[in-house]
Amino acid sequence: MYEDRIRCAALRGKITSAAEAAKLVRNGMRVGASGFTRAGDTKAVPIELARRAREEQEPLRITLMTGASLGHDVDRMLTEAGVLERRLPFQVDTTLRRAINRGEVMFVDQHLSETVEMLRANLLGKLDLAIIEAAAITETGGIVPTTSVGNSASFAILAEKVIVELNLAQPLALEGLHDVWIPGRRPHRDPLPILHPHDRVGTSIIDIPPEKIAAIVITNEADSPSTVLPADEETACIAGHLIEFLQHEVKHGRMSAQLPPLQAGIGTIANAVLSGFVNSPFEALTMYSEVLQDSTFDLIDAGKMVFASGASMTLSASRQAQVLADLDRYRDKLVLRPQEVSNHPEVIRRLGLIALNTALECDIYGNVNSTHVGGTHMMNGIGGSGDFARNASCAIFATKAIAKDGRISSIVPMVPHVDHNEHDVDVIVTEQGLADLRGLAPRERAKLIIDRCAHPLYRDLLRDYYDDALKIGGQTPHNLARAYEMHLRFNETGSMLPERAGGLVANGA
Ligand code: COA
Repeated sequence: MYEDRIRCAALRGKITSAAEAAKLVRNGMRVGASGFTRAGDTKAVPIELARRAREEQEPLRITLMTGASLGHDVDRMLTEAGVLERRLPFQVDTTLRRAINRGEVMFVDQHLSETVEMLRANLLGKLDLAIIEAAAITETGGIVPTTSVGNSASFAILAEKVIVELNLAQPLALEGLHDVWIPGRRPHRDPLPILHPHDRVGTSIIDIPPEKIAAIVITNEADSPSTVLPADEETACIAGHLIEFLQHEVKHGRMSAQLPPLQAGIGTIANAVLSGFVNSPFEALTMYSEVLQDSTFDLIDAGKMVFASGASMTLSASRQAQVLADLDRYRDKLVLRPQEVSNHPEVIRRLGLIALNTALECDIYGNVNSTHVGGTHMMNGIGGSGDFARNASCAIFATKAIAKDGRISSIVPMVPHVDHNEHDVDVIVTEQGLADLRGLAPRERAKLIIDRCAHPLYRDLLRDYYDDALKIGGQTPHNLARAYEMHLRFNETGSMLPERAGGLVANGA
């Protein structure tokens, strides 16, 4: 039974139902589950857990750690069943987001490279159980991960027991795609020996003793497809500004013609912008990134990209079907790593990455808010954007200049929450233009950001604010009494625009 998938014969007796396996989860436990931006998540046991909490009405509240976000509505079901006491380090689910913002779920928003580092250092308590999706289990009991590695390897190594969800829908051809390297203990840790995006430094399996595997659950379900929207006029403009900027850097000898390895963040904007590189003059591109979205495969297929390293593959339904059916074509161009390796500051700094991430809003001095709507309400989390921005050779933040039909400006006087501060942000780009902030003082940055990046609807408002702030002066001029005027107006009237500025973009202003 499943000889090719469970090659350690002694483990075949561990096959059980999701309901039986879910009984290993008890109230108060800390559970680490695979899954990174919908890829390689466990698809059966957490759903059974939600059912048990709902139907059997027993107290069942856990801390759930993952790589990043989950698919299959798992976070929604667990939230609705009241199972989530604490959740970390990332999520994108609307129901969970609301519960977090009501204070019902304690959400720990972490740099994605740090979760297992903290676990290893015993800063998050003992991990009771790991639930890991696998494509196969080897002769020695090693786990072959599926479409993500994320935190799976360290969860399996650090947990007391492991439940494996063996997913028959994930092709066996995934075997060999992964490179699992686990850091030693600090402070005597060896350097991470990755010198190029394609370097393989670890093992292709998650190596754990077979006796740790307490249950094997058979599943047969594809990953939830990604939900990113296609490129539009504005993302095409952002890509255009970025390509022009990078060409300029090459021309002036500050970047090689091949460009340093690229990182691109999650979501519609980063994916669409990266897709725009298909029409760029750059060749032989490489990626050292976290999530590989459709755009990575667009670039590989177009012959523009020669290698991509990531922690997961999060693809649209059609791309997922094509890539998984055609893995041999991509095998020598891809590697999937633990997220503490894909996002490792040492490698990011060594390779001199160009990091492209998305902002909800930026302020006139270059501070970026990527997580808190209105400064208070969690959107998704910082994800890996901080790991990359702090250490990249060029940290770029992209955003559309306005949101919600023009009722929100993405360029504001002062961001009400800071994820990436002015010291880490090198470039801001919107469809309006690009501001290269490197080597500029705050007063120079403010003028450039307003002139180049702000939407025309908001430019005068921002200039007026800045002129007023100049009267107070300082290295970073602000009028604190007015700094959140635009946000407060939005809360009161539903628009950051004053009445006199006219209607909204959608109303033809
Ligand atoms: N205030 C309130 N809402 C805003 C906003 C602002 N300043 N700017 C954008 N939004 C809204 C949009 O209107 C949209 O809302 P909708 O879902 O109701 O349509 C939503 O935020 C998403 O914005 P969108 O413009 O479609 O961008 P995106 O899909 O690229 O997502 C982030 C943008 C910032 C939410 C997303 O990139 C993210 O979570 N980033 C943080 C984590 C990260 O960078 N990870 C990558 C590391 S590798």
